[in-house]
Amino acid sequence: MLSFEEDFGAAAAPQAAQRLAMHPTPGAFQGSVPAARGTDAAAERRVSADDKRIINGQTDVNQLVPFKYEWAWKKYLDACANHWMPQEIQMSRDIALWKDPNGLTDDERRLIKRNLGFFVTADSLAANNIVLGTYRHITAPECRQYLLRQAFEEAIHTHAYQYIVESLGLDEGEVFNAYHEVASIRDKDEFLIPFIDTLTNPEFRTGTPEADQKLLKSLIVFACIMEGLFFYVGFVQILALGRQNKMTGAAEQYQYILRDESMHCNFGIDLINTVKAENPHLWTPQFREEIRQLMNTAVELEYRYAEDTMPRGVLGLNAPMFKEYLRYISNRRCQQIGLEPLFPGANNPFPWMSEMIDLKKERNFFEARVIEYQTGGALSWE
Ligand SMILES: [Fe+2]
Ligand SMILES: [Fe+2]
Repeated sequence: MLSFEEDFGAAAAPQAAQRLAMHPTPGAFQGSVPAARGTDAAAERRVSADDKRIINGQTDVNQLVPFKYEWAWKKYLDACANHWMPQEIQMSRDIALWKDPNGLTDDERRLIKRNLGFFVTADSLAANNIVLGTYRHITAPECRQYLLRQAFEEAIHTHAYQYIVESLGLDEGEVFNAYHEVASIRDKDEFLIPFIDTLTNPEFRTGTPEADQKLLKSLIVFACIMEGLFFYVGFVQILALGRQNKMTGAAEQYQYILRDESMHCNFGIDLINTVKAENPHLWTPQFREEIRQLMNTAVELEYRYAEDTMPRGVLGLNAPMFKEYLRYISNRRCQQIGLEPLFPGANNPFPWMSEMIDLKKERNFFEARVIEYQTGGALSWE
């Protein structure tokens, strides 16, 4: 079973949100300091935690405290404690293996190139979605704080994939254009782009049930489908290589990325469940069915990507194993946001993936190495 220790679970969605009367007001205050005239008005401007809302909030987004969404602040702190940078990871063994004509099979090379072909642009899409889209529509400053950290992590992930491409001396044009040129990658991105476009459209405003449902749908597609499903065939593939002592530097990078993405997905799920709790009128039967259909389409698209990257089976993996895995993950995502699973009884064929997510950075999977971000790294000013 995949283990997501940091989950609070759908049922435990921040309860403070549910206790409050919910009257979101259109035209959320999203950035500048609200005008206040006179001392009384200035005092009224002080933020009360009870008045905060995830969307359509009217409180000053520049006042981080008092906290209301403690789970978001905790995830921000946890994410900072997990900081890493791509260039810390040794790539020399990967380079030697890649250059050795007998080091890898043709199928393994195809898998690596197609795998990077998806990821090199996927995290850029993710970063743009956060910075140009989601961030503007979220009115809880502690959630914005996490999103800022998440945006930087997406930059680190793009950096990591670029670093692997450069280290191996791959054809950059081929890898970075795969999302235009390889159908199984393009189809995944084309599925995502309308939902990203909704949030990044400068004209888009929340504050009506229709617009708020659009936002909620895009949040679900981003967290539960993009980060929570579309990344997982790729993660399993490279981590399976690492388990066979191949491409261990790339595998180590992917292990850190997987751990970050697991937290992004869990943050997104907390965000979605809190928006639901604060705006129960959005969660209609029709809306829920639409989400389940999107999840079903996503499983099909990700399965086609698995078939395309592994036409013959490689590393003891084959595409049909991924069908079961994707069904298992999609059930998990549905359950996390309070939807009926689409594939009852699906099992996890890769139980070792849970170890990959849970491993602490200090207990490096591939080589004993300690990185002290939290105690070290002090700058000298002399
Ligand atoms: Fe990422
Ligand atoms: Fe992410």
